[in-house]
Amino acid sequence: MINDILKRAKAEEPLSLDDLEALLSITAPEELQALYNVAYTIKDQHVGRVAYFRGLIECSNLCIKDCYYCGIRRSNENVDRFQMDEEEIFKEALWAYEAEYGSCVIQSGERQDEVYISMIERVVKRISKATKGEMGITLSLGEQSEEVYNRWKTAGAHRYLLRIETTNPELFAKIHPEDHSIEVRKKCLAALRRTGYQVGTGVMMGLPGQTMEDLAKDILFLKDIDIDMVGMGPYIPHSDTPMGKEVPAYTDKEKKSALTLGLKMIAVTRIVLKDINIAAATALQALEYTGREQGLKCGANVIMPNLTETEFRPKYQLYDDKPCIDENSAMCRGCLSGRIKGIGEEVGFNERGDSPHFKSRNSK
Ligand code: 5AD
Ligand code: FES
Repeated sequence: MINDILKRAKAEEPLSLDDLEALLSITAPEELQALYNVAYTIKDQHVGRVAYFRGLIECSNLCIKDCYYCGIRRSNENVDRFQMDEEEIFKEALWAYEAEYGSCVIQSGERQDEVYISMIERVVKRISKATKGEMGITLSLGEQSEEVYNRWKTAGAHRYLLRIETTNPELFAKIHPEDHSIEVRKKCLAALRRTGYQVGTGVMMGLPGQTMEDLAKDILFLKDIDIDMVGMGPYIPHSDTPMGKEVPAYTDKEKKSALTLGLKMIAVTRIVLKDINIAAATALQALEYTGREQGLKCGANVIMPNLTETEFRPKYQLYDDKPCIDENSAMCRGCLSGRIKGIGEEVGFNERGDSPHFKSRNSK
């Protein structure tokens, strides 16, 4: 049965919800490899064997949200809060430009106050001007009003990442406090699309109580909203969070199965969505040292080297065992370039690496 689904996948025939669920449920090693191979062929045909770097600037861990899974949630009093200033963010973005990354991502906990909004607006303008509009600027700054999304777009940002986390409304309600709403998240995604960004979203895999059917439906949701980019990763417990406190840290066996689920999701998403950009999440590497390159081998084509000053890194721990805490930007550049070459791919230096899907939607 798996063989038959993979044959249809390779022929680029549409797959049903049941097909996706069956692929996500694979456990036999030879079937897993066959799934990854089909996904890699489709990646090769639609986006090529090039990995694009997006330098990740984690500019603040202040957050107004209180998600039950996240290490920097507002109620976690063990976090030493920090906020980079405009100059620091600008400096890191410029480092990425000079390191030929082609793109950067500015990410932080969520803040909706005008001081923050205008600081981001100013720094985006500065980065855009200093890089002659060449560098891709992605924002990952949470839920905002359409007006704010517009201001940041006008300032020079191109792409926006906002994860839906899960499309199962009951599960969403279980992992968030009552005032966090899946409907608001969906409205934000629609607003981002109207504003003209390349829009990215994604989910966490392996949440307690999440089923393969949920994950298969998540992939169909990505297709339904015609997404341009996907960033998704395995859920990893953080010991200072309500969800992390309920379960002991992952055993090696649990790490392995969380990694496999993450890789299967990347592969099936590539098979269904073909020409979008898919990130190999850093969380994959928290589960196994080579997790991110395995993600590339299963269909991902984007990697996000950390640009955050080493001093701030330990303060931005969304989950336990986050990698690269002691490294600096240059070390991550060298390390990841080597790993990508090691799997026979190239780094798309000096390229923005826009989602081919976005380009073709906009040329219609
Ligand atoms: N495990 C994995 N991913 C997490 N995120 C937050 N907490 C965790 C965790 N414990 C992810 C969320 C969020 C992104 C910035 O980080 O999906 O959208
Ligand atoms: Fe940061 Fe390897 S990617 S040290």
